[in-house]
Amino acid sequence: MFIKEKNKLKHVAIIMDGNGRWASNKGLSRILGHKKGLKSLKDIINFSVKYKLNILTLYAFSTENWKRPYLEVFELMRLFSLSIENQMYSLNKKNICVKIIGNRTKFSNILKNNINEIEYLTKNNTGLKLNIAIDYSGKWDILNCIKNIFLNFKKNILNINEIDEKLIEKNLCLGYLPPVDLLIRTGGEKRISNFLLWQIAYSELFFIDTLWPDFTHIEFLNIIKSFNNRNRKFGVLV
Ligand code: IPE
Ligand code: IPE
Ligand code: MG
Repeated sequence: MFIKEKNKLKHVAIIMDGNGRWASNKGLSRILGHKKGLKSLKDIINFSVKYKLNILTLYAFSTENWKRPYLEVFELMRLFSLSIENQMYSLNKKNICVKIIGNRTKFSNILKNNINEIEYLTKNNTGLKLNIAIDYSGKWDILNCIKNIFLNFKKNILNINEIDEKLIEKNLCLGYLPPVDLLIRTGGEKRISNFLLWQIAYSELFFIDTLWPDFTHIEFLNIIKSFNNRNRKFGVLV
């Protein structure tokens, strides 16, 4: 399973898209597609642990997804809450450090409590860093960052010359984590849909047609192999 690495792979981000279409194609309700998507999620997390990946950042719910029908949003929030509750001990046993990134203000108290619990339980774990984006958008992240920096500037804690890339990163949700090396989107769409923006400045992008509930670690491994064959240049002549 371990492949020879030409490109160092530390941080993978995935836009887990296509649950609704997977269900509709089978004449099922969209929420059943989301439930089936949890199986792919487990498979990808387990593979990432075995592969000794450092960081996995997953897009589960965008800021724009609140605009979906009430029932779908309600069921998704329930699913997030239940999955966190059911999986926290098993994730902890695997030495995974879980963080939920995004704006939590609209979440129910139950979801907020479950998030606090899983983050507290796993905070000292040294294995895979698993970031799950719920009510997240890249623009929201950058806006928050600007507000924080401006606040410190106003309090005279900060001087304008101290605003550099490192300071911006410190104030973004993923903090000092290394940037995304590989971004995968399942479900056939070729767009970012307001996921990580700053952090994907030099990521290698893979847009694949497989719908998220059909995505497995075998396809993940194949993408990692293709990633390895990419010529990462970072603007330099190589
Ligand atoms: C992604 O699947 C999951 C969420 C956005 C919550 P979708 O629900 O967007 O599935 P499609 O794109 O409609 O098939
Ligand atoms: C992006 O998928 C969000 C997640 C996968 C969580 P969407 O299905 O919401 O994106 P659009 O609407 O196709 O751009
Ligand atoms: Mg979609």
